[in-house]
Amino acid sequence: MEAGPNGGILGVGMAVPERILTNADLERMVDTSDEWIITRTGIRERRVAGPEDTAATLGTLAARRALADANIAAEELDLVICATTTGDYLFPATACLIQHALGAHRAAAFDLAAACSGFVFALDAASLFIRAGRYRYVLVVGVDTLTRFVNWADRSTCVLFGDGAAAAILGPCPREEGILATSLGTDGAGAELIYIPAGGAKMPADAHVLAQKLNTIAMKGPEVFKFAVKIMGEAALDALQKAGLRSQDVDLFIPHQANIRIIDAAAKRMGLGPGKVFVNVDRYGNTSAASIGIALREALDRGLVRRGSVLVFVGFGAGLTWGANVIRWNREEEQSAQ
Ligand code: ACO
Repeated sequence: MEAGPNGGILGVGMAVPERILTNADLERMVDTSDEWIITRTGIRERRVAGPEDTAATLGTLAARRALADANIAAEELDLVICATTTGDYLFPATACLIQHALGAHRAAAFDLAAACSGFVFALDAASLFIRAGRYRYVLVVGVDTLTRFVNWADRSTCVLFGDGAAAAILGPCPREEGILATSLGTDGAGAELIYIPAGGAKMPADAHVLAQKLNTIAMKGPEVFKFAVKIMGEAALDALQKAGLRSQDVDLFIPHQANIRIIDAAAKRMGLGPGKVFVNVDRYGNTSAASIGIALREALDRGLVRRGSVLVFVGFGAGLTWGANVIRWNREEEQSAQ
């Protein structure tokens, strides 16, 4: 591709529902324990969408906050990419609802479905549109409301997921900064390792589907776990190599927040100490496409990122999909105490 500017992140926002569901709450719903959930996953609590919260409302709120953070008006946006697999409707795309709610009337909008890897895929797409000179300002939203598709009687899945949204505004930045490299991958052979069997066009929701709860998340947890442990480190190292960098150059590793054991394994594979790994899975659980953006917003708030910091985002999820972005932070940050 011709040498244009890089795509850099100019603003970041997040939004989570107010309602908190703790492990103690789950102990009253299914045969589980706080101790089991913390030891196996690292999760202590998660947010659950209220009746008024949807992917579009949460995504719009996160987007407004990202626009304010970037000091950019909605009318300046050229494109909205919404990474989600739990959008408000099968169609239209949730990106269209967010575009309208923001008043981003100049922007084209589409959804991108890569499950928990969605934020990484969408950042890559946004940066390529900018790099190609096609668009100047692109809004990336990562949002999921997975609790709407959880079988609350299935203890092997219902403890894992939470709802939330994150948004990033991307725009042109110098070539040595912004998104330096991305590595993406897919293995559709694992499509049924984590999926929602019914409610789509193959098996539309009917009385049988609802009775059998086939419209909720079905997962082969241990298989997904093995895949994730292997792929997180590999994807991150591949993206670093593409950027001409090494693990030692990483200032902050921001992995998809699914399970602390998966995060620890990936960090170990990369040779990173705990001080370089951002973790907030304890407070939000797995928020799918939102998790990396939420973690980024909190890392910024805690003063962990400064201009020139090398960040690595890495995600894995249903598909199976995986991906990693390497970013040299392109924005001046006020440094605050942690
Ligand atoms: N509380 C108590 N016991 C439980 C619970 C629970 N919530 N869930 C399962 N168990 C039991 C099982 O029944 C099993 O009992 P048994 O030995 O008597 O049969 C035992 O605990 C061990 O179960 P495993 O599934 O082998 O436990 P594991 O250590 O693999 O942990 C977990 C399960 C946490 C789901 C893990 O496999 C995992 O994290 N997998 C990855 C999941 C993931 O990240 N999915 C998201 C993908 S991203 C996306 O696209 C949405």
